[in-house]
Amino acid sequence: MCGIVAHVGSRDCVPILLEGLAQLEYRGYDSAGLAVANRSGGLRVHKAKTRVAGLGSSLPARFKGGPGIGHTRWATHGEPNDINAHPHVVGPVAVVHNGIIENADELRAKLIAEGAEFVSETDSEVLAHLIARAGGYLPGSSGDDPGGASGGLEEAVRQALTAVVGTYGIAVLDARYPDRIVAARNGSPVVLGIGDKEMFVASDVAALVRYTRQVVHLDDGEVATVRADGFHTSTLDARTTTHEPSLIEADLRAYSADGYTHFMRKEIHEQPRTVERALRGRLEERFHTAHLGGLNIDARQARAIRRVKILGCGSAYYAGQVGAQLIEELARIPADAEAASEFRYRNPVVEADTLYIAVSQSGETHDTLAAVRELQRKGGRVIGVVNAVGSAIARECEGGVYLHAGPEISVTSTKTFTATCVVFSLLALHLGRIHDLSPADGARVIAGLRALPGQITEILGQEERIAELAKDLAGYHGMFFVGRVRGWPIAREGAQKLKEVSYLHAEAYPASELKHGPLALVGPDLPTVAVVPEDELRDKNISTLGEIKARRGRILAVGHGTLDPRLADDVVEVPKNEPELDPILLSVPLQLLAYHAAVTLGNDVDKPRNLAKSVTVE
Ligand code: G6P
Repeated sequence: MCGIVAHVGSRDCVPILLEGLAQLEYRGYDSAGLAVANRSGGLRVHKAKTRVAGLGSSLPARFKGGPGIGHTRWATHGEPNDINAHPHVVGPVAVVHNGIIENADELRAKLIAEGAEFVSETDSEVLAHLIARAGGYLPGSSGDDPGGASGGLEEAVRQALTAVVGTYGIAVLDARYPDRIVAARNGSPVVLGIGDKEMFVASDVAALVRYTRQVVHLDDGEVATVRADGFHTSTLDARTTTHEPSLIEADLRAYSADGYTHFMRKEIHEQPRTVERALRGRLEERFHTAHLGGLNIDARQARAIRRVKILGCGSAYYAGQVGAQLIEELARIPADAEAASEFRYRNPVVEADTLYIAVSQSGETHDTLAAVRELQRKGGRVIGVVNAVGSAIARECEGGVYLHAGPEISVTSTKTFTATCVVFSLLALHLGRIHDLSPADGARVIAGLRALPGQITEILGQEERIAELAKDLAGYHGMFFVGRVRGWPIAREGAQKLKEVSYLHAEAYPASELKHGPLALVGPDLPTVAVVPEDELRDKNISTLGEIKARRGRILAVGHGTLDPRLADDVVEVPKNEPELDPILLSVPLQLLAYHAAVTLGNDVDKPRNLAKSVTVE
């Protein structure tokens, strides 16, 4: 989850690395560091337990040069401190690493027996030792030793990586080769950026878009040598690989807060546009259906689908649950969602007539990617619902649908949750119209989808009031979220949002389960947020509210239709859409609630503690 960035070219790389790291802070931010090659053939290294801004302001004036590598860390091995911060340096070699080296302890013991001296507690330092050693640097000698493996730095990296078990995205600098950076990928994203007589390496295009739109995504098991005038890629066993650079579409404003105090609020407010983008060119009025170009499933194959299984983690999983309900309702195909992180470990039964769908904003979540690979190994057909174009999950799936939500910077998902639900509505409509959804129902769903952007704008118009409620509710130690059937994944996502950014305890239950245990906790000091749509279960939901009220529990109801004030202390009215699409709207007030609770509590909304945007490690 750490962020890595590197630059090679004639200009001073330090401002580029700092700017790139600032864009990657959402991947981790407990410490940061830089290493640059200086003119006299050595390395300058500066790293500290600080945010990127702090790193920049503490750099000595003479800290200039290039090429250089940088890192922002999300600690996995060893606490966040100056020493565990990357880059890790051994002699002339400096390494930044994202991922986890699983056999680090074993390698460390072996290297120590051979005389290596470790200074940090990280698994990553092992890489620096292995590469330095493979490159001919022996402990105790000076960092300026000539020599190195015959194939130079790339060969040293290759040799070192053959000893390693685990995941990595790395960028390596060796003072003896001041014209290049070597990068490698296995399980953690690495993208090369092609500039004008300069090249970039990063763990995410966010760090590059200011400088170039031409990129190459490395595949797992690839090594790249990057010089100012180009790059060469090969496999770990030295077979040359080829890549056509792809052009990334990026609106630079998506990477700046654009006048908002936080990205999370900006991204919540972007949602009317996000929905329009997810729908653009995909509604086919003539046949009252949706057209999804990248699906790679023809009508006959679609008819043969007997079951749909959706996999994702965190908010992607909950959006998948919304998706499963949409597919069951509109296409009448049995569908369910499961946490990819569980699925991959439970030796799942994989069926040939099941369509598996991997959901991921980043397209790099390790657990989801591992589930995709396990499925493919067993012959399962997997498609992706992904936001990040060119990401690992997007590339490894047989087909899929992009969200086109633009970059999401805040760690917690808002606009991509909504876009995922919209994409699932399209997929359900598409499958439904191939199965037995009537043209009239197809037209009804299309009209509902078209109404969403305006209705989200209406909900956003209630922000001030929701902020007041959030301020008040932030004074409690925790909250319950309840919903029934369509409202249940929305309650889960609402609780997820609240706990991620406000750190208040938040637990979601199906409303029907409340009296089977959780009701024991309900009382004046535990408020409940209830999702109460106007659907065939409204009466059931109202009786749940009655059960809570009877225990003097405070209730905030989010839904449709004025409620008796004796049943809910506060109500947020949400515009009514088609019942199947209502969940998409019901989650928006819960996003605002979480956001304003976090602001009230003074939290770092965009970078919640202990969390990273895309979890690329086990
Ligand atoms: C992390 C984030 C969650 C996110 C999940 C899945 O755990 O903290 O907010 O929902 O990853 O991310 P993905 O990129 O796969 O959608």
